[in-house]
Amino acid sequence: MTKSPGAILDSAQRSPRRGESQDGTSTPKGFFVTGTDTGVGKTVVAAALTRALVAGGRRVVVMKPVASGAEQTAEGLRSADALALIAAANVSAPYEWVNPYCFLPAISPHIAAHESGVVIDPALIRARFDALAGHADVVVVEGAGGWLAPVTESAAMADLALTLELPVILVVGLRLGCLNHALLTHESILARGADFAGWVANGIDPAMERLPENLATLVHRLGQPLARIPPLAPGARPPELGDVAAWLGRD
Ligand SMILES: Nc1ncnc2c1ncn2[C@@H]1O[C@H](COP(=O)(O)OP(=O)(O)O)[C@@H](O)[C@H]1O
Ligand SMILES: [Mg+2]
Repeated sequence: MTKSPGAILDSAQRSPRRGESQDGTSTPKGFFVTGTDTGVGKTVVAAALTRALVAGGRRVVVMKPVASGAEQTAEGLRSADALALIAAANVSAPYEWVNPYCFLPAISPHIAAHESGVVIDPALIRARFDALAGHADVVVVEGAGGWLAPVTESAAMADLALTLELPVILVVGLRLGCLNHALLTHESILARGADFAGWVANGIDPAMERLPENLATLVHRLGQPLARIPPLAPGARPPELGDVAAWLGRD
């Protein structure tokens, strides 16, 4: 069942911590942003959510656990997604905590990892997440690819979300075919026992036909979206969402 838009805000506000560890430090709550596919707006939404949470007065740190399609820089491999998220956050952290696995080719991470002799370790990702969480109220995490995108021979992005114990926000890129992708993803999120925090309707295709009918179909099955992002003009900045309540409360 979709939470009401305010519920996400409230949960971040009232109980930013999931629990107290034995030494008294606490683990902040966060969100795992997944999508119906690659290129559907996960980074746009995760950055907007980060900015909104920052504007709402929270200390926010970000994480892109696994990235491919990175660029070689003087500092090493850098993911544009990770850098975009970092730019939106107000808590800084070592790049290697934010993006522990970063690969050059724009291919599935599990293939990129295999080719470079790296084994992606969910336990290491959890350890980095905990380190990040120790410095912030909220950790906004962006997956790579879609919900079942493989990250190892056996594990998928979904397993990382479960390892991090985070509620999941599903970004639906509104284009032909998104109904099937959205419903499959939603079904799998529930089947795997993850906490479905809600979905975002992202207008990635300004020419999409029957947009209202498609939206109505999704609302009927997934509930009201947390937000609806209109098609952005080419080169336009993503939405500035300074007011979490206003954004998450849109219908
Ligand atoms: N609402 C939108 N309107 C127009 N373009 C968008 C919209 N949302 C995302 N995009 C563009 O689509 C591309 C993919 O978005 P991105 O957030 O990087 O997707 P993902 O993180 O899922 O791969 C980017 O170029 C982004 O600027
Ligand atoms: Mg992205």
